[in-house]
Amino acid sequence: MLCIETSSTILNDHEFDWEGWSQWVQQIRRQAVRRRYRLYVFLLDVILFPLILPCYFLYAIFKFIRRISTTTTTLLKAKARTTTTTTTTATPMVRKIEETTQPVIGQEEVRSLEIVIGINIMELHLDSFMSDGYTSTISAHEWLSGIASAELHHLQVLTLRGCNLAGSVGTSMLNLSSLSHLDLSYNHITDFPQQMFHLPNLKVLDLSDNHHLTGSLPEFPPGTALQQLFLAYTNYTGRIPHSIGNLKQLTDLEVGNCGFFGPLPHSLGNLEQLAFLGLNGNNFEGEVPSSFSNFSSLEELDMSFNGFVGPLPSLKASRKTIAKIDLSNNQLNGTIPLSLFTLPSLQILVLSNNQIQGKMPDWLCNNLEYLDLSNNSLVGFEDPFSNHSSSSLEFLDLSSNHFEGSLPIFPNSLETLDLSSNHFEGSLPIFPSSLETLDLSSNHFEGSLPIFPSSLETLDLSSNNFEGSLPNFPKGMDNISLSKNKFTGAIPLTICNSSWSHIDLSHNQISGEIPSCLFNSIMDRYPFSVVDLSKNKLQGMIPDTFGSECWLEGLNLNGNQLEGSLPRSLVNCRGLRVLDLGNNQIDDTFPFWLEHLESLQVLMLQSNKFHGPIRRRHIANSSFESLHIISLSANSFTGHLPLQYFPSLYFKGMYEIDDHQTSHTAMPNVFYTFLMFPNKGQALEYKSIQIPELNAVDLSSNLFDGEIPTSIGDYKSLMSLNLSHNNLVGKIPSSLANLTQLESLDLSNNDLVGEIPSELTSLTFLSVLNVSRNHLIGMIPSGRQFDTFPSSSFEGNSRLCGIQLQIDCNPNKSGNVAPPSDHVNQSMVLISIGYL
Ligand SMILES: *[C@@H]1O[C@H](CO)[C@@H](O)[C@H](O)[C@H]1NC(C)=O
Ligand SMILES: *[C@@H]1O[C@H](CO)[C@@H](O)[C@H](O)[C@H]1NC(C)=O
Ligand SMILES: *[C@@H]1O[C@H](CO)[C@@H](O)[C@H](O)[C@H]1NC(C)=O
Ligand SMILES: *[C@@H]1O[C@H](CO)[C@@H](O)[C@H](O)[C@H]1NC(C)=O
Ligand SMILES: *[C@@H]1O[C@H](CO)[C@@H](O)[C@H](O)[C@H]1NC(C)=O
Ligand SMILES: *[C@@H]1O[C@H](CO)[C@@H](O)[C@H](O)[C@H]1NC(C)=O
Ligand SMILES: *[C@@H]1O[C@H](CO)[C@@H](O)[C@H](O)[C@H]1NC(C)=O
Ligand SMILES: *[C@@H]1O[C@H](CO)[C@@H](O)[C@H](O)[C@H]1NC(C)=O
Ligand SMILES: *[C@@H]1O[C@H](CO)[C@@H](O)[C@H](O)[C@H]1NC(C)=O
Ligand SMILES: *[C@@H]1O[C@H](CO)[C@@H](O)[C@H](O)[C@H]1NC(C)=O
Ligand SMILES: *[C@@H]1O[C@H](CO)[C@@H](O)[C@H](O)[C@H]1NC(C)=O
Ligand SMILES: *[C@@H]1O[C@H](CO)[C@@H](O)[C@H](O)[C@H]1NC(C)=O
Repeated sequence: MLCIETSSTILNDHEFDWEGWSQWVQQIRRQAVRRRYRLYVFLLDVILFPLILPCYFLYAIFKFIRRISTTTTTLLKAKARTTTTTTTTATPMVRKIEETTQPVIGQEEVRSLEIVIGINIMELHLDSFMSDGYTSTISAHEWLSGIASAELHHLQVLTLRGCNLAGSVGTSMLNLSSLSHLDLSYNHITDFPQQMFHLPNLKVLDLSDNHHLTGSLPEFPPGTALQQLFLAYTNYTGRIPHSIGNLKQLTDLEVGNCGFFGPLPHSLGNLEQLAFLGLNGNNFEGEVPSSFSNFSSLEELDMSFNGFVGPLPSLKASRKTIAKIDLSNNQLNGTIPLSLFTLPSLQILVLSNNQIQGKMPDWLCNNLEYLDLSNNSLVGFEDPFSNHSSSSLEFLDLSSNHFEGSLPIFPNSLETLDLSSNHFEGSLPIFPSSLETLDLSSNHFEGSLPIFPSSLETLDLSSNNFEGSLPNFPKGMDNISLSKNKFTGAIPLTICNSSWSHIDLSHNQISGEIPSCLFNSIMDRYPFSVVDLSKNKLQGMIPDTFGSECWLEGLNLNGNQLEGSLPRSLVNCRGLRVLDLGNNQIDDTFPFWLEHLESLQVLMLQSNKFHGPIRRRHIANSSFESLHIISLSANSFTGHLPLQYFPSLYFKGMYEIDDHQTSHTAMPNVFYTFLMFPNKGQALEYKSIQIPELNAVDLSSNLFDGEIPTSIGDYKSLMSLNLSHNNLVGKIPSSLANLTQLESLDLSNNDLVGEIPSELTSLTFLSVLNVSRNHLIGMIPSGRQFDTFPSSSFEGNSRLCGIQLQIDCNPNKSGNVAPPSDHVNQSMVLISIGYL
């Protein structure tokens, strides 16, 4: 039921913008028509009722909730109260809007739309009436002037939150002199008149989440009524005016994630009523004004993600109200003032990513629940938590500091503890029994492991000096990383009964065989699992026990002593994205049977005993559909180059590379997959399932023969190609010049003949080229990247000449070539530029 009631007067048509209203009604109707489909779904439910009885109940509940929520969020809600001064004897008149009196199926709420506007209306709430996926916008100016022209002299509250209003607001609203609360948030307004801030009665102004709204704060003369000002997520910019100190009544100031800059005015601290201050995500700079210690009502302070410098502000200890302080991501320095930690009501304190020094004061006597001091320069504890029986701390993050020594006793209330990247040492204490997440990575802990609390879900002990045998894995554990320690012995069988989804035991000295129950247990796991056992001393065969519901996303067994053939049951792992079996002794032919793993992106089989030709009769477009990094290097594959079997490298520029600088940076993640990919002569380490946006083929060090096909020019998205150390013959195809993304090309140690095609100089990204040890002749092309390659890129070809080799191609005209020392210097400079 959509209804605005009124007390006395009804507007005449010419006084009110009926066009705007009926436009809205049209749109509501269109929405309603779309909703009709829901009715059909509903009818379908009824037909299927006997079949899916149990599901139906759940669905019906869902539908009911959905229905309630759509009714409340999408429909016009208008409340009207009569002003006390007006008599209520006049009969409310009702204006029906024709279009909507027609029944709309399944949408009885819309059927009886009755709108009456009266001049005594005091509150008009029109929130979200267009929000149900409706995308077209309506002119803010038109609508608001429609409302304003209705001469609603008593209108005090107008809310149009999430109404798809767009464009400029215009000045018409200035006529609504009684307005005390205006909410235009979550719209697409671009322009809001500054005079509105000065409406005599305006107390609450919410313009937040209008991303294109530009403007700046006006001066606030004394007597401005504003109490709450919300501008977050707008494009407001400029400084906070000093006159903001005149807003004595201000309780909420939220200007987060705008474009404000400059130092904060000292007067801000004089706002005694201020309870919520959100300045985060701007470009504020300078010190926090000392007047901030004047705040007497503050409940929440967010100054994160700015450029504040200098010492942390001290807030008066007597304040009983403040619950949350976030000063993270600034350049604040100095020590932590005790006054911050003794605020009795403080629950959340975030000081991460600053340059805070000194020791951490004792803080456990208060109500603090969440404390984040990560990425600072703290060195230790003032008082190692002698009495924490009354602590309510649940989250403690001290990572990336300079803490040293052994661990203190932590309060029992802790659920998350992150001490990673410090210099803690010694053996581990018993941890609080409620702990769910424990990250001790990158410290100097040693010894064997204690028994961990059974509540633990995430455990990261990587990059320490732990030794001894692996612990028993608690059943409920989800993420486990023990990588980069000195663990020895075999993998305990309890690993199969634990419900982990990510397990990383890489870079240890684990021996024995892989338990055959391990892969079988990766059934019914959600989310997809990652298993990393790389760089250990595992022996024997890879168990052929991947179950039919294998939820494996990444498997890394690189750098062990595994032998035998590839387990055929791997095809069950249909979600597999990374398979790294490099540096083992696997003895098999090329696994064409993996071609139907649609997600497989990285296949690393290098340095094994794979052998035989890579050949088959048909080439399917759908084989190895997603593959874009493949290494078959250092095996005994024979026959012609097999590039045509990996059509994904051909057809898709799988990655539209637009920024070469970022293409090799790994994203932060807890677990590693170690991909030894000798790209550009470097071993690159990529984290977990963070697959680099790189199209790379390494077929080096095999027994491939024949020519490099000219069709190589079709693999346009290749960025790295290594064909070195094979028996390739023929010329270097000039079509290689079409691989415009190529950064690294290694053709060395083959039997290639002819000249180096001068077209290759057009490869502007090429930073590594190696054609050494072939039978190439003629002049080395020069210009662009070719001037940056060192002589070792070309040596071992007895009949090549050019300045890169300091061999004159025209011995008769000696003197053309500049003195050698110059070339060396020049090349070195250019190389370093080429690598940037
Ligand atoms: C505002 O009110 C004045 C006089 O009351 C009137 O002349 C003007 O047209 C009004 N503005 C709008 C946009 O309604
Ligand atoms: C914000 O304003 C600046 C100019 O002041 C403009 O360049 C930028 O595009 C605006 N951003 C949005 C999201 O409108
Ligand atoms: C606020 O603090 C400053 C010093 O930081 C002091 O001079 C001023 O009197 C204080 N104002 C109020 C209202 O307490
Ligand atoms: C804090 O930083 C400011 C400049 O940002 C510097 O002048 C001051 O010396 C620093 N204080 C300490 C204790 O490092
Ligand atoms: C740590 O803080 C510094 C600034 O103090 C910042 O540059 C760096 O990115 C932060 N590191 C992390 C991991 O957040
Ligand atoms: C620890 O604190 C609790 C509550 O604040 C108190 O009852 C107890 O006596 C304190 N214990 C010590 C050893 O100070
Ligand atoms: C486990 O690790 C993965 C990847 O790092 C992450 O997506 C997931 O949220 C983690 N699970 C828990 C419970 O922390
Ligand atoms: C794993 O669980 C099964 C049944 O729940 C049990 O029979 C088996 O002994 C357990 N294995 C280990 C190593 O705990
Ligand atoms: C593979 O796909 C390409 C383009 O999508 C098409 O031109 C070609 O004919 C297809 N080849 C086969 C064997 O399906
Ligand atoms: C190509 O592979 C060979 C051996 O497999 C390796 O030594 C060389 O560094 C690789 N070249 C590049 C550019 O990565
Ligand atoms: C590069 O590709 C274009 C068509 O995409 C072709 O016309 C041209 O001949 C190729 N260049 C070389 C050097 O093969
Ligand atoms: C080219 O390869 C040869 C042998 O494979 C190697 O000695 C040389 O250092 C390589 N040059 C460059 C620039 O990578």
